[in-house]
Amino acid sequence: MEIQVFDSYEEMSINAARLVAAQVRLKPDSVLGLATGSTPLGLYAELIRMYEEENLDFSEVVTLNLDEYLGLGPDDDQSYAYFMREKLFSKINIDPDSSYLPDGLAEDPEDAAQEYEMLADMLPRDLQILGIGRNGHIGFNEPADAFPVETHVTDLAESTIQANQRFFDNADQVPRQAITMGMKQILAAKKIILLASGADKAETISDLVFGKVTSQVPASILNLHPDVMVMLDEAAARYLVEAYGFDDEDIAGE
Ligand code: GLP
Repeated sequence: MEIQVFDSYEEMSINAARLVAAQVRLKPDSVLGLATGSTPLGLYAELIRMYEEENLDFSEVVTLNLDEYLGLGPDDDQSYAYFMREKLFSKINIDPDSSYLPDGLAEDPEDAAQEYEMLADMLPRDLQILGIGRNGHIGFNEPADAFPVETHVTDLAESTIQANQRFFDNADQVPRQAITMGMKQILAAKKIILLASGADKAETISDLVFGKVTSQVPASILNLHPDVMVMLDEAAARYLVEAYGFDDEDIAGE
């Protein structure tokens, strides 16, 4: 696991976008695994800028998102389908038919999860973008007694409902379930970039880097993957900086 610490959220986002852009330029038909949440917003904004100003071409790119809330359709402004359309897809030249998310309105969510697993098997990701929950979740793989393997329907942890209520009017409106890729598909990506910013991620990042591989910190499984880049801003890297004794010169982007 390689760790890069940047002096700001903006620097982190720009550098992550450069890696994504390099991937797309080297392999125009790349399959990208994408994430939602506030963390990748800066990355997506920079990719849009590169599309507008630097001819970054997404016409052959295929994307698969990690997860979707159950009960929310693409027209619901809290759904991840809506988020991806608003924050990225409608602003670049990607083919909407090549951008996949689990179906939040599926009549049979278990079936929909299985279908998404099969789709993901057919479209192995060249590069997977991940955020991380304050409780260490990736996608919606919550802390549990075992690592979830395949795409599945999951109950959101109480801590996730609390963390995500900021996007809703109140906690009651946060869906209680989601469909999420499991660890098999996340680890199947050739390369993984995990982004984290802000002081509220510092503890879980410390667990990820210094702790054991445990299903109680779902992201810790990334320690078993051969090509993971963890990109952090200073606040999220706080305990790493203290432990390693980094000084400002070690922080990228200075
Ligand atoms: C959500 C998503 C995750 C995301 C996480 C962090 O619950 N399912 O994929 O990484 O929350 O979100 P944020 O970036 O807003 O902190």
